[in-house]
Amino acid sequence: MIVGGCDIGSATGKSVIMKDGQIVSYAITPSTIKPEETVRKSMEEALQKAGLSSIDSLEYLVGTGYGRLKVGFANENVSEITCHARGAQWLLPTTRTVVDIGGQDCKVISVSDKGKVIEFAMNDKCAAGTGRFFEAMARTLHITLQDLSTIGLTSVKPVSLASQCSVFAESEVITMINEGADLPDIVAGINNAVAGRLAAMVGRVGLVEDVVLTGGCAKNDGLARALEQRLKVKIKRLPMDPQVAGAIGAAIIAAEKVAQQTQAGSVSK
Ligand SMILES: Nc1ncnc2c1ncn2[C@@H]1O[C@H](COP(=O)(O)OP(=O)(O)OP(=O)(O)O)[C@@H](O)[C@H]1O
Ligand SMILES: [Mg+2]
Repeated sequence: MIVGGCDIGSATGKSVIMKDGQIVSYAITPSTIKPEETVRKSMEEALQKAGLSSIDSLEYLVGTGYGRLKVGFANENVSEITCHARGAQWLLPTTRTVVDIGGQDCKVISVSDKGKVIEFAMNDKCAAGTGRFFEAMARTLHITLQDLSTIGLTSVKPVSLASQCSVFAESEVITMINEGADLPDIVAGINNAVAGRLAAMVGRVGLVEDVVLTGGCAKNDGLARALEQRLKVKIKRLPMDPQVAGAIGAAIIAAEKVAQQTQAGSVSK
């Protein structure tokens, strides 16, 4: 049984191909202004990596992410919250709290031992605490996203960001640079500020271990460490690229649909 899942986010399109319950390929491509184009690109790349010639090779495809309604060729659309919960729990069955930090929003999801969503909190109103915030900060500091992940780890005296708004935080960081603050301390301060926001959201849904991070910002080790310090728990690493967790969840749901249809077909015979 070959199925697919695609997650069309604000920053990237993610596609996953699963065969008989195993992931055979995945692709992450930058988002364009047209979600349908983004998903086509990432799906084509994933199909190619899996050695499949066309989307018709998939028995079922589930779309998720903010652009999911534009996946015309998907059999079904499922919410991102559900897909991140299912994907993370499939990758690490002990997962009970998922913190997804994407390009334009962040979510904290409380998950049952079966991968069902119990509760969630979401921030999609403000850029602070999302990938856009990190991208703006990296631009201001003339460093890469990878640098944001590592440079702050050596900080001994992280700065404290007073601004709640990403635009003001950018001005604040520029002032700090001009006043001679050390780069590791600024980077650590940025990660601490986001971790503080995320920790407050975790508090709203209730902290239950294991805690995992999904989304592109889960690759930021400095952020993971800052959140561990705030929550006072060890954050568990997913055994695969955390950015594709939502697309994996979509593919798992697709596989379940095929199994249900096959079962219903064999019962009615
Ligand atoms: N190697 C990396 N290190 C740190 N951050 C990264 C890395 N790669 C990507 N990111 C961050 O991940 C973000 C994109 O994450 P993701 O693909 O999960 O977002 P999305 O699903 O498109 O967005 P949304 O869910 O908000 O619609 C980028 O904005 C960037 O800040
Ligand atoms: Mg996303």
